[in-house]
Amino acid sequence: MIPPKPTPRPDKVTLWQYLKLFRKDLLSAQPQRLYRAWMAEFRTPFFRSYLVNQPDVVDTVLKQRPDDFPKSNRISEGLRPLLGNSVFLTNGETWKRQRRIIDPAFEGGRLRDTFPAMLGAAQACVDRLRDQTGTVVECEEITSHAAADVIFRTLFSVPIEDEVAAQVFDKFQDYQRQQPLLNLAAFMPIPRRVPRLHSRTTRRNAKDIRALITRLTSERAELIAKGQAPDDLATKIMTTPDPETGRCFDTREMVDQVAIFFLAGHETSASALAWTLYLMALYPEWQEKLSAEAQALDASDFAAVSKLRLSRDVFREALRLYPPVPMMVRETTCPEHFRGRDVPTGSQIVLSPWHLHRQERLWNRPDEFDPTRWSTENGKSCQRKAYIPFSAGPRVCTGAGFAMIEGPLLLSTLLRHFRFEVVEGRTPVPVAHLTVRSKDGIWLRVVER
Ligand code: HEM
Repeated sequence: MIPPKPTPRPDKVTLWQYLKLFRKDLLSAQPQRLYRAWMAEFRTPFFRSYLVNQPDVVDTVLKQRPDDFPKSNRISEGLRPLLGNSVFLTNGETWKRQRRIIDPAFEGGRLRDTFPAMLGAAQACVDRLRDQTGTVVECEEITSHAAADVIFRTLFSVPIEDEVAAQVFDKFQDYQRQQPLLNLAAFMPIPRRVPRLHSRTTRRNAKDIRALITRLTSERAELIAKGQAPDDLATKIMTTPDPETGRCFDTREMVDQVAIFFLAGHETSASALAWTLYLMALYPEWQEKLSAEAQALDASDFAAVSKLRLSRDVFREALRLYPPVPMMVRETTCPEHFRGRDVPTGSQIVLSPWHLHRQERLWNRPDEFDPTRWSTENGKSCQRKAYIPFSAGPRVCTGAGFAMIEGPLLLSTLLRHFRFEVVEGRTPVPVAHLTVRSKDGIWLRVVER
């Protein structure tokens, strides 16, 4: 038995069929051969895309010469109204300055400080779920709520029940429903100069979200000025000057960053956690092991997290099979030569964690769920060179360390209290929206232990 994988399309399709498939979903629009290919070229009348699926080429783009491969504007477009000049979208010197200010907030020592807030969110999730035991629940909704709670508690020291937090959460959900296929633009044969108009609702929604976040940020600035601010991630980021210029973020810039922390930090973790719960229902023997291991959490302190070894292996394996960010796109700024092929300036370079994590020429039994693989030779070597759920190099996810604490902690806390069971006829089908989601949700029966 292998966990759900989208059915790939036939090798040969017309451009028209390809576009139709694409509108449906990014993953099933790709042919089977990409799981074996080192590189694939897509030609459109206006530009070329290259999916690179070979570790050393991925390494060149992400780690060796990242400045030569900035983020593609084709992708950024869809997020601009909401995220403005956030670290997720900027390039060059602006991006470097933003990372210098943000990175210290996510360093190891600081993560320890966020632990009580994360634990609070995990326990609140257990309390909410208690009312639903014995029923079939939709897990993506539950994990989205929990991950949003984690972000609000760690960033602003408020739970998701807070009035402003709850409104931000609701409006983000709407925003995502209207921006279903973000990566589309990199593959769509449309010329760059065609303005991609955002619908009126999308713009209004983005404006509302930004107004709410501006309120949170301004209130925090006042507390900082009075010396009464809580010691959380928002305070840390707002009071850290750029070591090179001595300047802090102004309110507008901070609003951009909060928007991305919220979006990048809760959508991704929610997706990963929902798929992990499904895998646990599919492999009950692993679920039992994790539940037993979760007794370590009795201690309720940060050190307990390091004891969740199996939970981490399981979460890591879920991130391999269902990487929340399935593809990333960069752009060439000078002529390149990859695998004997000339790649012109202005080409789109697609890095696909989805395909690299299942590259058949690298991984043993790539489509199987096997959390023990991380202690095998093949697993260790692939983890080094073919595993990029958080990307790699200087532009690696800021929240990677944070997510690797949050994920196992939430997972173990839930499994300590509940058992999750599959529901007949409800096998989830992975599709790529903003993150890898299930086409019709992830439905599981939840039983109290
Ligand atoms: C399982 C959870 C997560 C996954 C799989 C994930 C994955 C990623 C990936 C693949 C990127 C790179 C995207 C690209 O270059 O196109 C990224 C960037 C980013 N992530 Fe995460 N992320 C997760 C959680 C978080 C959390 C919890 C936060 C913050 C609290 C966060 C904040 C960011 C930010 C700010 C960036 C932009 C970094 C930059 O461009 O310099 N992420 N994430």
